[in-house]
Amino acid sequence: MPDEKNEFRVELYVKFLYPGIILKGDAYTYAGDKVWDGGSPFTNEIIQSLKGRGISKVFYTRSKLSQKRDPKNPMVSDEQIKKSVDISREIEQAVTSKSIIPEKGVNEVVDGFINNISSSEGTVLNLLELKEYDDYTYTHSINVCLLSILFAKKMNYNEKGLKIVGIGALLHDIGKQMISKEILNKPFNLTREEFEIMKKHPIYGYELIRSQSSYGTLIQKVVLLHHEKYIGKGYPFGLRGEQIGEIAQIVSLADNFDAITSERVYKPARPYWYALSTIKKESGTSFAPRLARAFVEDMPKYLTEAEIFTKGGFVVLNTGEVGEVIDYRFPQSLKPVVNIFINSKKEIVRYPIPVNLEFDDSRTIENVLEDEGILKRLREIKEKITSKKEKSPYNPVLDPEIVKTVEEKVEETKEIPPTIIEEAQKLDQVQIDKDLFIDNETDLK
Ligand SMILES: [Fe+2]
Ligand SMILES: [Fe+2]
Repeated sequence: MPDEKNEFRVELYVKFLYPGIILKGDAYTYAGDKVWDGGSPFTNEIIQSLKGRGISKVFYTRSKLSQKRDPKNPMVSDEQIKKSVDISREIEQAVTSKSIIPEKGVNEVVDGFINNISSSEGTVLNLLELKEYDDYTYTHSINVCLLSILFAKKMNYNEKGLKIVGIGALLHDIGKQMISKEILNKPFNLTREEFEIMKKHPIYGYELIRSQSSYGTLIQKVVLLHHEKYIGKGYPFGLRGEQIGEIAQIVSLADNFDAITSERVYKPARPYWYALSTIKKESGTSFAPRLARAFVEDMPKYLTEAEIFTKGGFVVLNTGEVGEVIDYRFPQSLKPVVNIFINSKKEIVRYPIPVNLEFDDSRTIENVLEDEGILKRLREIKEKITSKKEKSPYNPVLDPEIVKTVEEKVEETKEIPPTIIEEAQKLDQVQIDKDLFIDNETDLK
């Protein structure tokens, strides 16, 4: 649900700040003192000084996101969204009061979403945007539900399959409600003990579904296996490839996409291109390659009316080349036409080289340049080599600062973001029969 002015205050607890965190706007105390610049990483000194001064919260004003989430032709009706938020609240109450999960309501919400998504020619999925961090669990679960149903639909799932994927997705993080908010809101500097607790949420969730609902093993499977990774390094079991099955991987893709593109207490929302390129990079490690490819290639046109790569933006290619996005066949294209100004040897080219990425499989966009200083310099370079006035514009020597930035930008997205999995230790032995969940996905397509 987008904010009317597309701008609002984001509040952060000082105890959740960590050295290196970058906010999208200047940070202020509630007394109105500016304490830190937006865009520059927090240092340990400033965090300690805020704590020393007894300041528990700071805020910044968020400008609008690069990708709009309020499409002109929304896929899902406001009524359905409202209903799903109400049900999310009821689910939370059911967990806290140890009563039965409101299955009738959950089923109605998922049926409503399936109906909306099935009759959705020419519409765009209206994902929710959170306004307050306490709502994150609701908005995240609803978004993962919508994304999973849409993706399963594109993967030719039948009514039964869509329903299982939808219910599993809506409930995928239900186990997190057993974990304290203090731990949930600081996943990047958790202690080992906190990691261990965090990693239990699929098992907590599975046990909640088993004890507080009549949902069967397929829905239990989605909840239990949504953090498993294709290569076998996920949790709780470290299952591999086909053992994980498809429905949990569908929800895992939707989960990752929403987590990356949503703002959280400890991180800004990243643009769609970043989420899609992360999924592409984790194909074969986190995700089954076949599913990751389908998600990256088929989903963007249903997710936004906006451009994935903005025309006029400067991008870094996998080759190390730098260019400007000048055209595309569809705004949602991940393969626009790029005019290259800097070659892979980091030399300024004599004439810009237009490359249509749709027809060039050797090149992909790895990153987008956002630093104003670098952009200003690139615009000057572009001006120089496209200007017909200058006779001999060729100047292969590029500013070392740009070379350094470009090199860093190519490296940056190659890194798989830090995950809980690598650092966490083995879970306590849990008594779950894994075989219950293997090879049981029949009749879903
Ligand atoms: Fe999760
Ligand atoms: Fe999640």
